[in-house]
Amino acid sequence: MSSPSDIWSASDYAPTAARLRPISELVATELAGRLPTPAAVVDIGSGHGDGVTALIAHGYAVTAIEPTARIREVGKQNVPSAAWRDALGEATGLDDSSVDAVTSTFGSMFCDPTPGTTEWARILRPGGELVMTAWNQEGFLATMTDAMMEAVNPGSSKQTPPHMAWGIDEVAHERLSQWFESIHIEHRELEWSFDSVEDGMRLYREGSPTHAWMAENIGPHREALWTALRDHLEAHADTSGRVNSTTGYVLITARRR
Ligand SMILES: C[S@@+](CC[C@H](N)C(=O)[O-])C[C@H]1O[C@@H](n2cnc3c(N)ncnc32)[C@H](O)[C@@H]1O
Repeated sequence: MSSPSDIWSASDYAPTAARLRPISELVATELAGRLPTPAAVVDIGSGHGDGVTALIAHGYAVTAIEPTARIREVGKQNVPSAAWRDALGEATGLDDSSVDAVTSTFGSMFCDPTPGTTEWARILRPGGELVMTAWNQEGFLATMTDAMMEAVNPGSSKQTPPHMAWGIDEVAHERLSQWFESIHIEHRELEWSFDSVEDGMRLYREGSPTHAWMAENIGPHREALWTALRDHLEAHADTSGRVNSTTGYVLITARRR
C-alpha cells in the first residue's frame, strides 16, 4: 500500500499551496478568536508552511506535522522557526495533553479518521481547541472527485472516499463526538478558477501531487483519467475558455472535553 509520503511526493506542491493560502490564514484567524497567546499549537499536514506562518504571526508556538519529505523540506526553509516533525497526524509522537490547539488546512482530512481523532484528542489538553478544514460535497472539487472515481472504476456505485466525508455534517459529528464538545461545522466556498482548460490540466499534471500520483498508478485507466479531468474542466469553461468556479469546504471547530 502507498504511504501518504509516496502520494504527496509525486509532483511539485507549490501551485496547490498557493490556492489554499487564504484558508490557511482563515484557520489561524479563527484560532486567534478562540485561544489567547502564548499557546502551543500543532498543525497537521503543514505542507509548505503557509498555515504555520499565519499561526506564528498571531504569536503561537507551532509544531508542524508533515510526513512528506519533499514537502517538509520546503516548509522548513519557508518557516524555520516552527518545530517540524516527520510524522503522521495519526501518530505525532507528542506527549499526552501537551498542546493547546490542533489546527489543519486540508491536511488532517487525509488521516485515517479513527486513529486520527484519537491522536488529536490524546495530545490536546482538556479544553484545547481543534480548528480544521476539509472539502465538502459542493462545487468543483466534489464533482471532480466523482469524475475521477468514475474514470478509474467505471460503472461502480458512487462512494464517498473517507477524506471527502468530513464534509458531511453527520459524519464529522460522529467522528469527533467521542472526544470533543461544542462541535461546529460551517460550510463555505473558495474560488476555484483557471485562466483556461490548459491551465487546469497543467495544475493536475505538474502542481497537484495527488493527481500526478493517481495518473502514475492507475495503469490502463490513465488516459481515461486525463480525459475525465479535461471534460470536467471543459464543462465549467465559459465562452472565452475561462473556468470560473467555486469549491465548497467545511470549517470545523471543536473543543476537547
Ligand atoms: C492538501 S495538502 C495541505 C497542506 C497545507 N496545510 C496547505 O494548506 O497548503 C495535504 C498535506 O497533508 C499531508 N498529509 C497527508 N496525509 C497525512 C497524514 N496522514 N498525516 C499528516 N499529514 C498528512 C501531505 O503530505 C500534504 O502536505
